[in-house]
Amino acid sequence: MSLTEAARAVRDRAYAPYSNFKVGAAILGANGKVYVGCNVENVAYPEGTCAEAGAIAAMIADGETVIAEVAVIADSPDPVPPCGGCRQKLAEFAGPLAQITMATTDGAETRAAIADLIPGVFVRAHMDKG
Ligand code: THU
Repeated sequence: MSLTEAARAVRDRAYAPYSNFKVGAAILGANGKVYVGCNVENVAYPEGTCAEAGAIAAMIADGETVIAEVAVIADSPDPVPPCGGCRQKLAEFAGPLAQITMATTDGAETRAAIADLIPGVFVRAHMDKG
């Protein structure tokens, strides 16, 4: 199963009764394992979590800390990009060249490197004055 197919499968289990916008995400860890997540909304809207956050949590819980590749999918008119917060979350564990595949459920796909999605990312070194 491709990373996009894994994201598509987990998307079906998203809990999105408020936005009706189901998202699936799959992460390939550096260890070769695939971690999936879906968005989980809440009646207190800001408490909802994105699909990418779920996949990252599963990866970390399994003991992997390096993202090799990511896929995100939704029923959107254009391939769905990770939201700004998720770009920062992914950048915590992915190198700048890690590829993100963005997909629609209709089969459209685009790819980008994490560095292209979040140029000027805030990193640990910004907290070092030297
Ligand atoms: N959503 C994600 O799961 N990932 C993204 O990167 C974009 C947005 C979810 C959050 C919310 O449940 C729904 O999509 C609508 O914003």
